[in-house]
Amino acid sequence: MKDNNFIKENNAKHMWHPMGHPADSLAHPPTVITSAKDSSITDIDGNTVVDAVGGLWCVNLGYSNDVVKEAISKQLYDLPYYSAFSGTSNPAAIEASYLVRDMFAADGMSRVFFTSGGSDSVETCLRLARQYHVVRGETSRTKFISLKKGYHGTHFGGASVNGNNRFRINYEPLLPGCYHLPAPYTYRNPFNETDPAKLAQNIAAAFEDEIAFQGANTIAAFIMEPIQGAGGVIVPDASFMGLMRDICDRHGILMISDEVITGFGRTGDWSGARHWGVKPDLMSMAKGITSGYFPVGAALIGEKVAEVFENDTSGNAAIFHGYTYSAHPVGAAAVTATLNETLRLDTKVNAAARGAQLFEGVKALAAKHNIVGDVRGGHGLMTGIELVSDQGSKTPMDLATMKRIHKTAYDNGAMVRLGGNNILMSPPLVITEAEVNQILSALDAGFSAA
Ligand SMILES: Cc1ncc(COP(=O)(O)O)c(C=O)c1O
Repeated sequence: MKDNNFIKENNAKHMWHPMGHPADSLAHPPTVITSAKDSSITDIDGNTVVDAVGGLWCVNLGYSNDVVKEAISKQLYDLPYYSAFSGTSNPAAIEASYLVRDMFAADGMSRVFFTSGGSDSVETCLRLARQYHVVRGETSRTKFISLKKGYHGTHFGGASVNGNNRFRINYEPLLPGCYHLPAPYTYRNPFNETDPAKLAQNIAAAFEDEIAFQGANTIAAFIMEPIQGAGGVIVPDASFMGLMRDICDRHGILMISDEVITGFGRTGDWSGARHWGVKPDLMSMAKGITSGYFPVGAALIGEKVAEVFENDTSGNAAIFHGYTYSAHPVGAAAVTATLNETLRLDTKVNAAARGAQLFEGVKALAAKHNIVGDVRGGHGLMTGIELVSDQGSKTPMDLATMKRIHKTAYDNGAMVRLGGNNILMSPPLVITEAEVNQILSALDAGFSAA
């Protein structure tokens, strides 16, 4: 490894970063993170802060889980790679698939298709949804419906169902046949509705209206995050996902629950769908599946869908989709160790308790700082803070002020994440009470610097 002088000198000069402007990275080189322990990270200048981002909504077990590290290391020596394309498999993937299926059996899931990350998992779900209808002989069902403010990754399919124009407009035209409903976002919505239950009813009515307009027999699937993450931690009313499930059922539309963030305990339950008492048809997973220690994702296939594929005799159910690293043995070993650790530590319990502490703490800060327009969370360790320059007109806070708040919070002990005029937080699920308090005092300092 080159020394720190080399790293600082070359920072961002040769690498384009995801989700950033190349010129901005050159003008303002990113913070270089060199090490991490438990729920904290340390940068190249030796500053150590609590990681309120959890890497990127993913380091659920924190940075110091030796069980996962050792499992990865052992697997590298036993079998670093072999293809899982039809005809060959490996023991690590077989064991991991058993555990994942078992963990999500309560959600009605019966099969697992491994991928390399969240975008891959979403893509797999979208493609399997279309193929499900082909196998059943209803080939006209090709369209997808999703929610504005939703984030489903950056592949063309995922970007097409994405509900935030930042991820779309420079990449258009996207997939035809994708339509969007309003988000369950009480702070801003076209119905001017602040009551979450009434807003849920309005969106359900818009869904029915869209189905009538498109024709139910043209729609393959509806995809949603149980709690919208990257869009600003938008928590729907408890009735919302059930309402959408019911509409999907009445019209033969598959429901895909995008659990890339909400899976594996972040909401205080093992899945976001279970949190709302809903059984989807397909689930996309990633992040917490390996706690970020190895890039792995999974599409989970519900019983109804699996039966159609497995009972096919026409040949149409052959899956001509997959990735070189699907069921990667090292990734699979990481999955097995991560799931065993996640269950042993029962991380969902701490996620619920620390999530409530963080949410209540941020609400107290909102009473003190008039730049806080909206605070969202209260369902596990996902908290969003929407900042405005004027509470009456809800004018989004400008980027320069957002960056100043971010930097001040960092200087005062916490890494948070900016998403437009939102501060997004998703710390490790093993975070302690004292570390949550440190995040809150760092935010207090950040808001004071606005
Ligand atoms: C809900 C959701 N779906 C899909 C993705 C895409 O995952 P990845 O970045 O691993 O491709 C993300 C990433 O944050 C996500 O939050």
